[in-house]
Amino acid sequence: MKRDSFGSRFGALVAMAGSAVGLGNLWRFPYLVGENGGAAFIIVYIAMSFLICLPIFISEFVIGRRSQKNAYAAFRDLSGGSAWRWVGLMTVIVPLIVLSYYSVIGGWSIDYMLKSFSFSFTGESSRSTFSTMFTDFVSSPWSSLAAHTAFLLATTLIVVVGIKDGIERFSKVMMPILFFIVLGIAVYSLTLPGAGSGVDYLFRPDFSKIDAKAFAAALGQAFFSLSLGFGTIMTYASYVSKKENIMTQSVATAVSDLMFAMIAGVAIMPAVFAFGLDPQSGPGLVFETLPYVFGQMPAGGFVAILFFVALLVAALTSSISMLEVAVAFLVEERNMSRKAACFVLFAVCWVIGALCALSFGPLSDVQIAGRSIFDFFDNLSSNILMTLGSLLTVLFVGWRLKKTDIYDEFTNGGSISANAKMFGVLWFLIRYVAPVAIIAVFVSGLIG
Ligand code: ALA
Repeated sequence: MKRDSFGSRFGALVAMAGSAVGLGNLWRFPYLVGENGGAAFIIVYIAMSFLICLPIFISEFVIGRRSQKNAYAAFRDLSGGSAWRWVGLMTVIVPLIVLSYYSVIGGWSIDYMLKSFSFSFTGESSRSTFSTMFTDFVSSPWSSLAAHTAFLLATTLIVVVGIKDGIERFSKVMMPILFFIVLGIAVYSLTLPGAGSGVDYLFRPDFSKIDAKAFAAALGQAFFSLSLGFGTIMTYASYVSKKENIMTQSVATAVSDLMFAMIAGVAIMPAVFAFGLDPQSGPGLVFETLPYVFGQMPAGGFVAILFFVALLVAALTSSISMLEVAVAFLVEERNMSRKAACFVLFAVCWVIGALCALSFGPLSDVQIAGRSIFDFFDNLSSNILMTLGSLLTVLFVGWRLKKTDIYDEFTNGGSISANAKMFGVLWFLIRYVAPVAIIAVFVSGLIG
């Protein structure tokens, strides 16, 4: 049977950008920037993104497109059946863990989107009301399980349709909508009185905050945001036509992800500051502070609807890429139908996600390695396994595969002269700079 693939250049691009743009951009990046030195952090982040993460992104792209197989088979076949396939297996398993807890947060977005439809935030004058609203919601087993189930089901229903008709079509329609919504909120946010201090918080450079921890934060964020080290880019790349230019597709994805994160920052921080609030990151920012802000601002009820729709769409375009990694594996390696693979993986992720969801309520006393179940899976995958996956990927491309094969794939058989000219630099970054930097930043982050 012919393997499914992306039908167009734009489709492949928006699908990859969709995988990259997600909760990481909306609820972590703006806060990290503010906390770690504003524009100074942005400079570090851009340097990390282009010197370390782009080479990793291209490495994943090369592995996927060269093999045109799922992540496990890609490592196995390109290495001639060696033990590298276990790295491939790891990159199939990690996105399932990420998807499981990501789905819990995706579920919260659904619930808050529904709340915004009924203008539940409008007119609430106390910030603490929103903390109580959020705590009540996440600690109630039924509501958080229902929300998690709804999000995972939506993810599965898109993926089951296939690459071109499911993932690509959804991303093609939704990514432009997402972009215009966030841009519109950013413009509106800038018009609020007092917005200037939010812009200041985001962009005033403070180089004294740039230390080992800031480097580790920038790299960790860039990995998560570009969906690196857990098979998604590799898997999507395996569906990209051999005619496409790996360099331009990779740069376009990295630039879109960065632009999106910056626009999200401008959408969120000026509004938060305009209402005299302290920024937070993660759930506190999106599900407590922002609903309060929406409740106060002129036309905030409508802005809330747009924001939570955007949050859900951003989460879905990322979650479908995570599910696809393991779907491709089961279909190609276990001869399952796409439907059966989706069904099995839905069940697996549902169970892990349910444990994560319940860790805010009935299972809040359960600790793994000193953390709640949710935090354990989040920390294990974002801080350890993604970094490990990225390191092993660049080592695989830089030290295990043949340089001539990488050159051939990167330049489309030598036919793209701009890529051919850049190859020397890229090779150096993949072989030496990226692995050393990943290890250095990881270790200094642990110590610092
Ligand atoms: N890249 C995805 C995000 O930023 C996982 O949320």
